[in-house]
Order: sequence, then C-alpha cells, then structure tokens
Amino acid sequence: MTETNQTPTAEDGTPIPSRFGTPLARLIPVDQGKGMPAGSPGAAPAVPGITETFYDAVGGHETFAKLVHVFYQGIAEDEILRPMYPDEDLGPAERRMTMFLEQYWGGPRTYLEERGHPRLRMRHMPFAVTPAARDRWLLHMRAAVDAVELSPLHEATLWDYLERAAHSLVNSGD
Ligand code: HEM
Repeated sequence: MTETNQTPTAEDGTPIPSRFGTPLARLIPVDQGKGMPAGSPGAAPAVPGITETFYDAVGGHETFAKLVHVFYQGIAEDEILRPMYPDEDLGPAERRMTMFLEQYWGGPRTYLEERGHPRLRMRHMPFAVTPAARDRWLLHMRAAVDAVELSPLHEATLWDYLERAAHSLVNSGD
C-alpha cells in the first residue's frame, strides 16, 4: 500500500479523523485580528476520540473558582491594579472572570448568557492596560495557577493561554 497525505475517508466519503489531524491552532486558538483567543478549545472535543473537556480534566468549577479567587486576592492587595477595578467590591469582577474562563475551557456557557460575546479587547479599552499592568496581572495569575496544582501539561496549556491573552490585551504604553 502506498502512503498518501490525503485525509482517509470511509466508504461513504466521511473523513476518518486522524490522530494527528487536529491542527494545534484548534487546541489553542488565538484570534490575532482581535488579539484574543477566538473560540473555546473545550467547547467541542479538539482531539477525535477524546471527549473530556479541559474544564472537566482539571477539576471543573472548583478549580476555576479557586484559581480566580486566589488571583483576586492578589489584585485586592495590588497598589497599581486595584485602583483600576471600578467597583469597591471585587466579588462581581471575580464572578465574571470565573464564568469567562469556565466557558473558554469548555464548561458552562453562563458568561455568554449573562454578558454576551466576550469582546475582551473592547471591554478592556476603558482601562489603561500598560505593559507594567500586564506584568502585575500575570504575577498574580502565576500565583493562582501555582495554587491550583495542575498536572504539568494542563498547567503549561493554561499558562500559555493566559500569557498570550494578557499580552494581546495591552492597549497603551507605560
Ligand atoms: C493584561 C492585564 C489585564 C488587566 C490590567 C485587566 C484589567 C481588567 C479590569 C480593570 C476589568 C474590569 C473589572 C470588571 O468589572 O469586571 C477587567 C475585566 C475583565 N477581564 Fe481583564 N485585565 C487584564 C487581562 C485579562 C485577561 C488576560 C483576561 C482573560 C484571559 C481578562 C478577562 C477579563 C474578563 C472576562 C473581564 C470581565 C469582562 C466583562 O464581562 O465585563 N483580563 N479586566
């Protein structure tokens, strides 16, 4: 039998998923035009045959709630970032971030129902997201990621996304 690069198909022409057929871009999509990840890698199984979402694999709501809670504990103490958050109570902001990340990674789609399309770049426009603000944001997020103690692969996947997302949201100079 000769090897070809063509997608194998069943008798009725349906493509047979290949173990190596899923481009990495589908696993970690980044919408470069808008500077934000476009879709949720967890919304549909990215790898044929693997149906568990990233959200489920890392422990579901409990993990995301803890991640974001630890992150906001850092924000609450941050002299540069805390004044950027308009509300006196950080609780509602914590909830929005939790809903967003849960949805992004394949969990409940409550964010969409309550807030609509994320449009994160637009939603950050009222705030001066400088490189310095980004670095402090990432500092607190790093502590939060460490606190949830994921497996090395899950941790690397999540961190890679958060770093890229934070870099893509910078909208002004220092
Ligand atoms: C780069 C540094 C960043 C800074 C300084 C920053 C700052 C802020 C501020 C001040 C708010 C308003 C708080 C609120 O009322 O919800 C906000 C909202 C939000 N941020 Fe960020 N952010 C940063 C990066 C990110 C990243 C990387 C993500 C996603 C991975 C993100 C996701 C969100 C979400 C989901 C909201 C709520 C949007 C809404 O529904 O209104 N932020 N951010």
